[in-house]
Amino acid sequence: MTELAIIGGTGLTTLKNLEIKKREVMRTPYGEPSGPLIHGHLCDKDVVFLARHGHGHTIPPHMVNFRANIWALKETGVRSVIAVAAVGGIHADLRPTMLAIPDQIIDYTWSRKHTYFESNLSEVTHIDFTRPYNERLRCLLIDAATQLGIEFAASGTYGATQGPRLETAAEIDRLERDGCTLVGMTGMPEAALARELQLDYACCAVVANQAAGRGSGEISLTDIDTNLSQGMETVRHLLETAIPNLP
Ligand code: HPA
Repeated sequence: MTELAIIGGTGLTTLKNLEIKKREVMRTPYGEPSGPLIHGHLCDKDVVFLARHGHGHTIPPHMVNFRANIWALKETGVRSVIAVAAVGGIHADLRPTMLAIPDQIIDYTWSRKHTYFESNLSEVTHIDFTRPYNERLRCLLIDAATQLGIEFAASGTYGATQGPRLETAAEIDRLERDGCTLVGMTGMPEAALARELQLDYACCAVVANQAAGRGSGEISLTDIDTNLSQGMETVRHLLETAIPNLP
């Protein structure tokens, strides 16, 4: 059975070295996922790939059907999810193109469908979310990054914002006061939904830009694209180093 799913974010709509076996179009009680599940072989392991924003990158962060995506992955039988995500670096150490493996989240999103537990409940359920990311998967990524000798952050607090606009400088100041070191638009409710369905979940974040007010001047989309192309190449190497170490 396929153990691992990879959710690709902005800049990672395909996995180059994935030997594709089949494409699975799924329907869920929550609607359609962002695209077909791509089943394939990577480094001798079966993996499933899903492009979070759709194959052509047409679904903005606040319109992603997170419930359908995570439900579909659970339904296909995976137990672990590595979520790749583009982020802005708030902490000065998090420079564009670098990777970070966050260990905490603060959720600033609103009005997203953020739970499976809303109707037909036999009882009210509260998941434990003290540690939002799975430590075994985080270690897998950290060990692979260490093995590759790349510069990366082994921890960090992911501030999940609503998007699709980028933040104001004052909003980033507030996130920093709250303890966030990086900011992105897709970390929640994805991580919580994975926990609700008892999937192990970790995030591999790629710094696309310095967050608002942290660099000089405005954030350039061209720079973001350039940084992401480079960062996602590192992610591909990281995954190809990490995956052979899966049990
Ligand atoms: N803010 C929020 N999400 C992001 C950013 C950012 O600066 N960069 C990439 N995704």
